[in-house]
Amino acid sequence: MEKKNLDWSNLTFGYTKTDKRFVANYTNGAWDNGALIDDDMIVMSECAGVLQYAQTVFEGLKAYETVDGKIVTFRPDLNAQRLHDSAVRLEIPPISEEMFIRSVKETVAANAGFVPPYGTGATLYLRPYIFGINPVIGVKPAEDYQYRIFATPVGPYFKGGVNPIVVKISDFDRAAPHGTGCIKAGLNYAMSLHAIVTAHNEGFAENIYLDPQTRTKIEETGGANLIFTDGKGTLIVPKSGSILPSITRRSLVYVAEHYCGMKIDEREVTLEEVMGGAFSEGGLCGTAAVISPLGKINDHGKEFTFSNGMEEMGPVMTKLRETLTGIQMGTVEAPEGWIVPIEC
Ligand code: PLP
Ligand code: COI
Repeated sequence: MEKKNLDWSNLTFGYTKTDKRFVANYTNGAWDNGALIDDDMIVMSECAGVLQYAQTVFEGLKAYETVDGKIVTFRPDLNAQRLHDSAVRLEIPPISEEMFIRSVKETVAANAGFVPPYGTGATLYLRPYIFGINPVIGVKPAEDYQYRIFATPVGPYFKGGVNPIVVKISDFDRAAPHGTGCIKAGLNYAMSLHAIVTAHNEGFAENIYLDPQTRTKIEETGGANLIFTDGKGTLIVPKSGSILPSITRRSLVYVAEHYCGMKIDEREVTLEEVMGGAFSEGGLCGTAAVISPLGKINDHGKEFTFSNGMEEMGPVMTKLRETLTGIQMGTVEAPEGWIVPIEC
């Protein structure tokens, strides 16, 4: 398929309408097979469950053009599993892994002209989501649902791409200990909007949320997990039951151990040790963020600067990022099953 005429290298993380999207409907207790459609508009009741009680879950994954001109996706089976888990938590009927993978493949293939060329730094972001669509006024799950997946070409999530960012310790909490922090639901992001606007107005790129119970442990940021290194060969990964099980983070743990020869220390991480200088480098990791390096953390005016400073990414985060993106773009051999080719 001929490439669209876009300024690929200057794309931001924004929405561009593409040609086709996949839609399936759940009515009378069953999902239909779904199909690609042209219409990007959704018409629904003013009383739809998603509008009244935010009954919606979503995913985020990317399609990449590889060095040899193929189009691939990265570990979509893990997105299928997480969408299933998120749906079950919000009483949404899950879709099958078969339909999820088929919808990913069909949506990417139908929008192949929007997959950014290799080397531009841009990718095709895919957004699968399920929402309650019939009228719901008493607080209860909807009866009918719609599953959609659309594609949009994107550039880096943070302005400046791989430049270190400054983040603040948020005064707001993201997720309660037995709440919904470990699923990907719109409600987790609605509640973060005031916090992110506040952080941006104060000049910070993102928020780091603490555990709400003790406010002493590092959880994650609004849109990415956190990883750290001690600069002595260990990757330190904050562990908590109320953070999203990031597919990027889980992949980086494998990459760090099996490709970079690092040790992995997955455990609770305190704010005190981070601000006290226990780690030489840190990064935000996620599908959108890839790895975005931490430059500084600001805790109510007290600042900690990582050893890479504000000018460039440190050597450990650079190595991890290059290995992961190499696997995704076909310059580094991938572990079995990680790369799923798209037939166009
Ligand atoms: N944490 C949050 C809150 C997120 O929104 C995301 C993005 O998906 C992640 C972590 C990273 O997860 P993944 O690597 O699966 O994209
Ligand atoms: C992703 O990385 O896919 C996300 O959903 C994060 C979001 C904040 C854009």
